[in-house]
Amino acid sequence: MALIAIAADKGAPGVTTAATALGAVWPRTVLLAECDPSGGDLAYRLPNLNGGVLNPAKGLLSLGAVARKGLNPGQIAEHTQKLVGGLDVLAGLSHGEQAAGLTWLWGPLGRAFAAMPGADVIADCGRLGTCPQMNDLLAEAAMVVLLVRPSLDQVAHLRERLSLIKHGRIGVVVVADPRHYRASIDEVRRIVGTSAEEVAVLGGLAYDPKGAELLSGGWGGRLDRSLLIRTARELAGRLVTRIAEPAPRPVRRGVGGRT
Ligand SMILES: Nc1ncnc2c1ncn2[C@@H]1O[C@H](COP(=O)(O)OP(=O)(O)OP(=O)(O)O)[C@@H](O)[C@H]1O
Ligand SMILES: [Mg+2]
Repeated sequence: MALIAIAADKGAPGVTTAATALGAVWPRTVLLAECDPSGGDLAYRLPNLNGGVLNPAKGLLSLGAVARKGLNPGQIAEHTQKLVGGLDVLAGLSHGEQAAGLTWLWGPLGRAFAAMPGADVIADCGRLGTCPQMNDLLAEAAMVVLLVRPSLDQVAHLRERLSLIKHGRIGVVVVADPRHYRASIDEVRRIVGTSAEEVAVLGGLAYDPKGAELLSGGWGGRLDRSLLIRTARELAGRLVTRIAEPAPRPVRRGVGGRT
């Protein structure tokens, strides 16, 4: 089905938290894939379905070991685990050094994700710019969602980043304080502008420390009522609608080496 890549430029605006929240409320069958080249965080944050620790050896690393000769979408399920709550996850790398030997993987992985039968894939791609080959995965995404907090430095870097992503549809999501939610989103929309048809400010996710903390610990009823999860649910609905729409015209942004 569809690959939705979640990423950021500088800072740590909450990519992993957003990807996890979206995975938890996604209205269709979904796989949460930890593709951050700097390493995954989920094993440290959430238990598996049995209350144990996610096995870091079963995931992106084990998939990378068998995928050199080719990767088909059917292979991915053998490397996934279940998080508490039942969400399927492809556990990420343990540290950034492992990514150095896997630069060839991102393109084939993106193609396999986009062709997964019966499931969408939400990929946590971490911070962009550290691993140029990540562009090969982004190129396969039905939507690249860029997270940003409404600070001048983060928005400025985001604007630069928008000119460097060459492929496909981009959605900007603002991690915003609920007290200034609309104003923050509107401000980012104003700064980012709507110059490119394929870039849309999709809306916000609540800045909600308590909700984010729950996503780093255990899942429970309270999480479901958190502002973070409520806004994630709205965003997930909007994303599913967006990716069903016809693709925009070919992208005319063209920087970053290839045009
Ligand atoms: N929506 C949110 N509201 C409040 N706090 C948040 C939110 N999202 C993330 N946080 C907090 O911000 C910190 C960073 O979050 P997270 O790990 O999701 O960011 P990231 O962008 O994935 O960072 P990195 O680039 O290091 O992987 C964590 O302490 C997390 O609890
Ligand atoms: Mg992260």
